[in-house]
Amino acid sequence: MHNNRIIIRKEKYDNSELRLNETLFSNANGYIGVRGTLEEGVPSGYSTMRGMYLGGVYEIIPMKQAESLCNLVEKKQTMLNVADTQTIELYVCGERFEMGQGELLSNERILDMNGGFTARKIRWRSPGGRTVGIYIKRMASLDRPQIFVQEYTVKAEDFDGEMAFDSWHVADVRNYSDPDDPRLAAESPSYLTVLRAEVKGDTSLCVSKTGVSGVVIASAVSHVFPGSDSNGISAGYTVNEDKRCVCRIEAELTQGNEFKVIKYSAFSDSIRNEDPASDVITVLDEAKKNTEALYKKQRDILSAFWKRAGMEIKGDDDLDMAMTFNMYQLFCSAPKVQGSSIAAKGLTGEGYEGHYFWDAEMYTLPFFILTDKKLARNILSFRYETLDKARENAALLGHKKGALYPWRTITGEECSGYFPSGSAAYHINGAVSYAVVSYYLATGDSDYIVDEGEEILIETARLWLDTGNYNRDGKFVINEVTGPDEYTCMVDNNFYTNCAAAYGMKWAVRLMHMFERREKIAELKERLNITEDELAEMIRASENMYLPYDERFGISPQDDSFLEKPVWDIAATPKSDFPLLLHYHPLHLYRYQVCKQADTVLAHFLFPGNADRETMEKSFRYYEKITTHDSSLSTCVFSMQASRLGLHDEAVRYFGDSAKLDLLNLHGNSTDGVHTANMGGAYMALVYGFGGIRIDEKGLSIDPFLPDKLAGYSFRFGYHGCLLCLGVDREEMKVELTEGDIIEFSHLGVLHRLRGGEQWTAKL
Ligand code: BGC
Repeated sequence: MHNNRIIIRKEKYDNSELRLNETLFSNANGYIGVRGTLEEGVPSGYSTMRGMYLGGVYEIIPMKQAESLCNLVEKKQTMLNVADTQTIELYVCGERFEMGQGELLSNERILDMNGGFTARKIRWRSPGGRTVGIYIKRMASLDRPQIFVQEYTVKAEDFDGEMAFDSWHVADVRNYSDPDDPRLAAESPSYLTVLRAEVKGDTSLCVSKTGVSGVVIASAVSHVFPGSDSNGISAGYTVNEDKRCVCRIEAELTQGNEFKVIKYSAFSDSIRNEDPASDVITVLDEAKKNTEALYKKQRDILSAFWKRAGMEIKGDDDLDMAMTFNMYQLFCSAPKVQGSSIAAKGLTGEGYEGHYFWDAEMYTLPFFILTDKKLARNILSFRYETLDKARENAALLGHKKGALYPWRTITGEECSGYFPSGSAAYHINGAVSYAVVSYYLATGDSDYIVDEGEEILIETARLWLDTGNYNRDGKFVINEVTGPDEYTCMVDNNFYTNCAAAYGMKWAVRLMHMFERREKIAELKERLNITEDELAEMIRASENMYLPYDERFGISPQDDSFLEKPVWDIAATPKSDFPLLLHYHPLHLYRYQVCKQADTVLAHFLFPGNADRETMEKSFRYYEKITTHDSSLSTCVFSMQASRLGLHDEAVRYFGDSAKLDLLNLHGNSTDGVHTANMGGAYMALVYGFGGIRIDEKGLSIDPFLPDKLAGYSFRFGYHGCLLCLGVDREEMKVELTEGDIIEFSHLGVLHRLRGGEQWTAKL
């Protein structure tokens, strides 16, 4: 039986679990992200990252370089904690509800991935001996991305008496910081000035503004009390001297009865709205009209999503649930509004300051390409919207031509302060161009290519031409770059980077020629002054790309000098020293053969034409021994490539590590937010790895296998406007065309054709 897509966890009132649950039970809808912090707050001494975020809303802050070398980045964007509207304090006959006080009779967290909400279900006995049942439901509306709803129900179990809520709306908030962890912001001054905090009838409104970016954020809050005529309710809003708005709600409780309040919060920002203060009131008033319709719409949107994307793993319920959770989180993190992408932590926490990395294109995009074309387009469009900034970034780094995407960013400018593992990671360009091509190959959307994609391909290809040079018997070499593995920086001929560059240049020219009759392509050629000579140069560099090979080991070396270095003894390194980045100076790490994450193994998976099978298997074995997987972007890649190489045990082991990473907090830092790249990677490990789905210029091929440990699996995916379902069990594999007219795919090199509603089965 398929899992019911509901996670219920008994929650201990314990420091580390609270922070983790804030992440796992967060609410997001691609615009608003709300950490699952306790409404009533936590007593001091408990660690919490209390936050509400808006996709793409940022402040610019200085990033002082100790030595101001030419053109180093001196400022960065950071995602903002915009306001706190989630705080609701409960008083029962004057006694304040706090988890650390009185007696916690039961305490559960619920995540319902069909309904798209989270809930807390609590029974609590106050120090004075009164027992209440509490149920708090929260939802970030997928239909109305500016709306967040909390529904708070209190039931008096064994007493009659008055109860009260203080429901807060506070715009004067700070971001979280941890000076000891490079993956979090080091300091958190107040980024927002509250311009307005006022009450209008039954609504509070706050407007705040950042000091440097000048972004204005408006939030509005209002409450309704459904079915409560007999509770003698009173509700009054006030604004404190320190501009904190509070709504005091009082009601009478009688034994066995309950009282419910629904709190609506609406958000708007000046990046998307000229007048966020009035926009937010309109949006709020509209949402308040019918909560049931909002819940229904939420369910409908998710039901359509699961219909397109549903996956089932038989024989391992934990894996099955972990994958459901990952897919749900990805869906909720994807940008629903213009001008944003999918951050390393989605909208679930402040890790990596809300920045977008190559994670978005290389790791999460395949999931969206196969399950939600529109969201995939949103992610791709962000790179088109920021292409000019990428051109400026390239110029800052001394390039005469082309565009270089920033290593980490919110608005398109480089936000990485440490260039050896920041700006030098030119392979981000490879990820963006690979994404453009993958989207085209899976959807056939040629309009996208002529409207946006080709311009990205040309500008990234130009950058490669401008970066590399001919050397080594006429080979094209790319020097002084950093590949995916961040424990090895500033190297010559990183195998992965060179493969990605060759691929990007090849496709830039191929698609230009394929669509040269389209008017927009002719315009593009003229606007960017693209000549046939330049295109020929791209082909020449691509075909003559230098791809290192090492005879001694029969492997693809990670770069020119990698194999000259001593091998780091991972087995002899104390467990407490991992992740190495928190315990060793980077320069020290750079002098060893030790990898933070998959690098050459990823190159072999993505660009299999660049090495033979034996080289790939030997390389897999070689890098396996020296990779710490300190980055969450690693085990998924080892799983995919193990599947491709027929190393089924390894494929399953790495897949488990990747799929369960956040739910089980395997890296110990899911407390700061989920790992969206890994979630997308786990999806690829199943779909591309076990499922053997391959989409390339030859079309779609499906060559699955079933790991011994599993009883079967199935998943749906989209291809060229059609919806397919692949099911695999001990006996057979089944491909079904559930939507669309006709599809062709190959299995073991033989071409098959399916018409709408038809199935095709084969023995495994
Ligand atoms: C990884 C990068 C990744 C970043 C954000 C780093 O630890 O090394 O590859 O892009 O995290 O997830």
